[in-house]
Amino acid sequence: NTVTLNCPATVANMVCGFDILGMALNDPFDKITISLSGEPGIRINHTDEYHLPTEPSKNVAGVALLEMMQSIPEPVGFDMTITKNIKPGSGLGSSAASAAGAVVAANELLGKRFNDADLVRFAMAGEKLASGVKHADNIAPCIMGGITLIRSIFPLDIVRLQAPPLFVTVVHPQIEVKTADARQILRKEVLLKNAIRQWGNIAGLVAGLLQGDYDLIGRSLEDVIIEPVRSILIPGFDQVKQQSREAGALGGGISGSGPSIFMLSRDKATASQIAGLMENIYERLGIDYKTYITTLR
Ligand code: HSE
Repeated sequence: NTVTLNCPATVANMVCGFDILGMALNDPFDKITISLSGEPGIRINHTDEYHLPTEPSKNVAGVALLEMMQSIPEPVGFDMTITKNIKPGSGLGSSAASAAGAVVAANELLGKRFNDADLVRFAMAGEKLASGVKHADNIAPCIMGGITLIRSIFPLDIVRLQAPPLFVTVVHPQIEVKTADARQILRKEVLLKNAIRQWGNIAGLVAGLLQGDYDLIGRSLEDVIIEPVRSILIPGFDQVKQQSREAGALGGGISGSGPSIFMLSRDKATASQIAGLMENIYERLGIDYKTYITTLR
């Protein structure tokens, strides 16, 4: 009557695919333990220092479960403990890990009565609470693994994309960027010439992933719409990007709404070298940081 799950960090956007592309990582991850209770309702316990709300209607995992419970005819109760390793406001899908983890774990307890698309819909209620808007580019890869394309959220249309082996280096400078703020600063209109360049990149990235064409993946990891606005919030961003490319990264950029930055590489040696240069950059800037060398989940 108890289920414990690891809920992976995710990199939303994958540079050019704002709100439509995302990938799941093997590290870091949160842990969720949930049990069915005879007492209807949701009780949440956090075992970390982040002071997240435990009232279900104010907690992303609670809201996702409440959404799920609307589709469950019988009265049901859950006791949930969340151990967070993915820091809120990191750009690594912290809220998605909690929301997705809660509904996936609860679904196991309920005999898997909901499918992945249902679970994505429930968990998006958590994202709405966290960022003000429903988006599935962290939720979908968190639930389905690998790289996902969200062709549409209304109606939900998710495509899981094959990808060649990829190593991912992530640096998380320890400053907090709230997704809601990072969305607020974006312009509401884009220039047609930028839109053309962006959809060329998205198509190129998807084709490169499907064909295992590393050079095409690298050329397509360019964002002319969101990154120029958001990167201003991230100290060291230009240095990380330039030095990583010089060290052999395929490319990379802001993870989700930041401040984490991710870089993709073909091999582990390059990924490790990139972690080293990221560390040097933040040492010199005097900003605390955490790095991860990981792979697609
Ligand atoms: N696509 C979203 C954004 C992801 O960039 O705002 C937030 O994690």
